[in-house]
Amino acid sequence: MTTTKAPDILPRILDYSSRADPYPLYAELRKTPVALQEDGSYVISTYRELTGILHNPHLSSDVRNLSRPIPGAEERGTPSFINIDPPEHDRLRRLAMRPFGPPHTPGLVTGMEPDLTAIVSGLIDDFAGKERIDIVDDFAYPFPVTVICHLLGVPREDEPRFHLWVNAIIDLLAYDPKTDPKEKLDNGIQASKDLRQYLGGLLEQRHGRPGDDLLTRLANDDGPDGRMTDEEIVSTANLLLIAGHETTVNLITNGTLTLLRHPQVLQRLRNEPDLIVPLVEELLRYEPPVHMIPWRAAYSDITVADTVIPKGSQIMLMLASGSRDPDRFHDPDRFDPDRQDNQHLGFGSGIHLCFGGPLARLETQIALNELVRRLDRPRLVTDPPPYRPSPVLRGPIHLHIEQS
Ligand code: HEM
Repeated sequence: MTTTKAPDILPRILDYSSRADPYPLYAELRKTPVALQEDGSYVISTYRELTGILHNPHLSSDVRNLSRPIPGAEERGTPSFINIDPPEHDRLRRLAMRPFGPPHTPGLVTGMEPDLTAIVSGLIDDFAGKERIDIVDDFAYPFPVTVICHLLGVPREDEPRFHLWVNAIIDLLAYDPKTDPKEKLDNGIQASKDLRQYLGGLLEQRHGRPGDDLLTRLANDDGPDGRMTDEEIVSTANLLLIAGHETTVNLITNGTLTLLRHPQVLQRLRNEPDLIVPLVEELLRYEPPVHMIPWRAAYSDITVADTVIPKGSQIMLMLASGSRDPDRFHDPDRFDPDRQDNQHLGFGSGIHLCFGGPLARLETQIALNELVRRLDRPRLVTDPPPYRPSPVLRGPIHLHIEQS
């Protein structure tokens, strides 16, 4: 058995000072594809090992299979299917996907294009007369929030309430009891309870009512897998609400930043709007919103790159590092929308592959194309911009731009 210790790089990656540019640290980390940390957890950072392990049936997403529990995991309520293993995962994922795709409502995402364009246009209309625009607050955040609220059936005007809860929950994703205050844990647990209670209240109104939103469909749908319990619906709605906007905001913001840093590509996109499809794919590789999956558990001993990871170990998956691995991608630090063979890890891989991909792609394609078409000589005010605290869901907290 080979055990490779490389405990010093991860703390530097997690430190806020690396948020604007963690990529050189990822390159260092990849020298040790499976890096054992001081607390006994393992960090995986190379493309081959990441894809291998994401498809390994001995890898669990269920916190109960960790020998060292994640702080507060018990108190956060029934896990959603992103944190559950087969066969339960598969049943819940199938049920949640029913309203999204064929054969039930084949056009859900493609049919949304006119509505998405209208929301984007309205937000850009509101830029008029503003000297300085914050791409996050004025655009990249309100857009996917409006969309996911509408899809789920969550009142848009409740956003200020759930925004605070969601922030506290995201803060917990990379919670470290050694360095983080206990208050952060308590806030996150309370926020999880509050958000669930709020969604439970919305669900209560949906039973027995025909309706078009996801909550109503989940409450009343009787497919081949039966129906979700109320607790399962609340956990699923919780996952969809958070996953449905906290990631896309970063893709749109990272995309705007990347275009402003690559003016020739921006100009090309203006002339060739179809470039947006491969361009968004390249963004998911080059500046992805999800940088890491903070933990998975080994069901049994797993061998990765000659290292035996013992049963019950915590495993951290550095997706953004894998998508910049030079053994998989030619010239990986170059933003190249013409790149062929772009199987990035932006949406994960394996059984938990993101099922919001088609929606997130469409939202980002429309948002960036409209911005590029309508902004007049946009300029960044500060580069790098200030970043949100999370090393897991990474993106600017504000992105101020000025235009002529
Ligand atoms: C799972 C990324 C948007 C719903 C995932 C995973 C990643 C990801 C990396 C895998 C997590 C894991 O393996 O543990 C993203 C990115 C997005 C995005 C980068 C935007 C750019 C969305 C949207 C929705 C969504 C818009 C819903 C409408 C989900 C769900 C899962 C998931 C339900 C769990 C799937 C499962 O466990 O089977 N996402 N996501 N995501 N995503 Fe997304």
